Amino acid sequence: AMATPCRLRLLLVLLAAVAVAASHPAHEAGGCGGGGDGTRILIKGGTVVNAHRAEEADVYIEDGVVVAVRPNIPVGDDNVRVIDATGKYVMPGGIDPHTHLEMEFMGTVTIDDFYSGHAAALAGGTTMHIDFVIPVNGNLTAGLESYKHKAEKAAMDYGFHMAITKWNDEVSREMEVMVKEHGINSFKFFMAYKGSLMVTDDLLLQGLQKCKSLGALAMVHAENGDAVAEGQQRMIDLGITGPEGHALSRPPVLEGEATSRAIRLAKFVNTPLYVVHVMSTDAMEEIAKAKREGQRVIGEPVVSGLVLDDSWLWDPDFATASKYVMSPPIREAGHNKALQAALSSGILQLVGTDHCTFNSTQKAFGSDDFRKIPNGVNGIEERMHIIWDSMVETGKITVTDYVRVTSTECAKIFNIYPRKGAILKGSDADIIILNPKRSFAMGTRTHHSRSDTNVYEGRKGKGMVEVTISRGRVVWEDGNLNAVPGAGRYVRTPPFGYFFDGLDKSDAVYRASLRAPVRRGEAAAA
Ligand code: URP
Ligand code: ZN
Ligand code: ZN
Repeated sequence: AMATPCRLRLLLVLLAAVAVAASHPAHEAGGCGGGGDGTRILIKGGTVVNAHRAEEADVYIEDGVVVAVRPNIPVGDDNVRVIDATGKYVMPGGIDPHTHLEMEFMGTVTIDDFYSGHAAALAGGTTMHIDFVIPVNGNLTAGLESYKHKAEKAAMDYGFHMAITKWNDEVSREMEVMVKEHGINSFKFFMAYKGSLMVTDDLLLQGLQKCKSLGALAMVHAENGDAVAEGQQRMIDLGITGPEGHALSRPPVLEGEATSRAIRLAKFVNTPLYVVHVMSTDAMEEIAKAKREGQRVIGEPVVSGLVLDDSWLWDPDFATASKYVMSPPIREAGHNKALQAALSSGILQLVGTDHCTFNSTQKAFGSDDFRKIPNGVNGIEERMHIIWDSMVETGKITVTDYVRVTSTECAKIFNIYPRKGAILKGSDADIIILNPKRSFAMGTRTHHSRSDTNVYEGRKGKGMVEVTISRGRVVWEDGNLNAVPGAGRYVRTPPFGYFFDGLDKSDAVYRASLRAPVRRGEAAAA
């Protein structure tokens, strides 16, 4: 995957990373490229797009940070690298809110780690992601330690969400430590995967309350896990053991039910809720209804749900069909277009990938029983191109909307804006240059994932990310990748993001509305 770097440079960078790592907490070390290495870049003549406006301007970068954004910035001296962006869009690098790199899951481990996943991301124009830390036997600290280690080879910036898989006083205390000491401001509750990650309503309720008190965002994987287990048994009893059984066993109604339940519990607690991988009209309609009623709910579609349909699961070839097994399942055609419309109209707010890649050997674990096919699809490398092609090129969203749904909204929700998700003076220089006139083609022959399969195999479209800049370093240019292990930094996400503003006021209104306790008997007479 590394096409250009000379070995000497890589060695020096690695030595620098080791030296820095020795004096910093491992997962915040990195930092050997970009910010601080003196690189100066001037991007000239492009259209600079932020979520709030697009303008003809130049961008000057120094030491990994955007120093100026305005028209006609003079070149200055010879030590400035000038990149001509005439006729192209200069945009914030993508931020993927939903990935699973090197995750232990369903008896195996996802094939992309924090290096190959980052290489793929950078080649596709994504410069940051937020991955889900999975606790070890329910223990959050042990889970974080494990992920810090996994992320030592990070080639781009990353943050962490954390899953909550059991509940007791220790977990409750650890959540506070994660927020206050480790920069994690979001916790995910799996309402599916019975027997492994699934939580009960009781746990979800405790978790929602704890999240609220910490200013942390509660995230849910919304499917009714008990009903899914029933649905799976029903398919097996009917003799349906192939990948199509996956879709048939967990229909949209189970996603709609869990989405509605999570939304209502979040309403009861009065805390914001983030619904990950919204795959069906059923779930999307629940989010739309809650939003119409003024509830703070965030809906995240993923690329697979937006552009694929479930027909692949009926493919007679197991290797082909099993590639598309993920949860909630990719739905019947029609759901995808409805999700696209919801993204255009703001019902859904930001696009993730749920990049959770297993190769064909791993998928074959379920060749005689769909319940054993590891769940997950790729997307970290494809997201920026597919959203451009399917949403901007078709006129469904504007160029500024594109920036909003692929980076800015994520940065705002997880409270790291405008350092990330913007090209403004002082922002990290995470930037892409996209040529709208060129075309892309996707698949295993050219992708940077370690997987031997790709759910977007053969997909072609308009728009090409020609350059990716990660904290001031050009890491992707003309098809050459320079992803440096250890160059990525951990990005802390502070609590009490904008979604928490004013919750104290609505809590006060609620308390005032109770007209209770009613004073009766002697108390009333006094
Ligand atoms: O199939 C999926 N989505 N795999 C990753 C785990 C999850 O549910 O997000
Ligand atoms: Zn999930
Ligand atoms: Zn996921």
